[in-house]
Amino acid sequence: MAMVILGIESTAHTASVGIVDETAHVLAVASDMYRPPSGGIHPREAANHHVDLLPGLVRAAIETARIRPREIDGVAFAQGPGLGPCLRAGATVARMLSLTWERPLVPVNHCVAHVEIARVLSGLDDPMLLYASGGNTQVIAYARGRYRVLGETLDIGIGNFLDKLWIGLGGTFPGGPALELEARNGSDLLDLPYSVHGMDVAFSGMLTAALALHAKGAARADLAYSVEVTAYAMLTEITERALAHRQRESVVLGGGVACNERLRAMVRTMAESRGGTMFAPPKPMCVDNGAMIAWTGNLALKAGLEVPVEASAVEPRQRTDLVPTPWRAG
Ligand code: ATP
Ligand code: FE2
Repeated sequence: MAMVILGIESTAHTASVGIVDETAHVLAVASDMYRPPSGGIHPREAANHHVDLLPGLVRAAIETARIRPREIDGVAFAQGPGLGPCLRAGATVARMLSLTWERPLVPVNHCVAHVEIARVLSGLDDPMLLYASGGNTQVIAYARGRYRVLGETLDIGIGNFLDKLWIGLGGTFPGGPALELEARNGSDLLDLPYSVHGMDVAFSGMLTAALALHAKGAARADLAYSVEVTAYAMLTEITERALAHRQRESVVLGGGVACNERLRAMVRTMAESRGGTMFAPPKPMCVDNGAMIAWTGNLALKAGLEVPVEASAVEPRQRTDLVPTPWRAG
């Protein structure tokens, strides 16, 4: 049987276990999201949620995949970036499974995992990547052994921006999907700060301005609509600039905000107008999931990147462009 990897994701809200084979066929994904009753994330409460839920998610994934533990060839986990207590919850479970099953332990960068699952599903070998999620907003291209961040947010991630705005408008986490529905009822394009600096973007000015308009009585639907149009135009612009600079045509989207239909449509229109294409994975593969960790773990293990338990510390601030990706060489 082909090599099978189990992957554990626990960087932030989502605890997830995925099982994937070496052709990127997803045999199982079992996930559960911690939803704060109000406001933003509490790292310790989210970590407690993951500690409570992960053992059952491991069992559920194995049952869904219809395999026995001894058929699993490696255990991958998200090493960073993320919240320390949440990362440690997943890493602890991964270490236990690795020791118990006597299988290699493989650390995976969460951002690279979003990129790699999107890339393999796209079938494109070397696309430009727009990684748009809660904590991260980056335009990425591979060059000389690393994923290079060509442009990124200078303050908060696009998803955190949407979540904070939605909570400010009276909603609860996660804000992105709710805001997308609300935006469909909007029609009046309100004036909001458009903040692009070369290939970088910033969102905190738009957050302040949108909340101020809300306080003055602007309709929630118009705000949602205007924020989506403005923020996604910013992302589309920096992606187009990166395509022009790096002489590429096609764009692959990844990360939770890549679920958004308006973002997909705007980037598609831009890419097609340049003679290229846009690919976005199915939504369960855009949001945080264990399958992307398992798939990247498969690439990493084949490239020899397993670590002993003693050297498997989590790295809450690990950066995309510092992670070696030897599987992409050659
Ligand atoms: P990362 O650690 O990669 O920054 P994350 O922990 O925030 O990621 P993801 O699952 O990658 O987790 O992304 C979650 C984000 O995606 C949330 O901010 C959520 O509001 C946003 N999101 C999900 N669906 C949509 C949507 N349809 N439209 C816009 N945003 C969305
Ligand atoms: Fe993520």
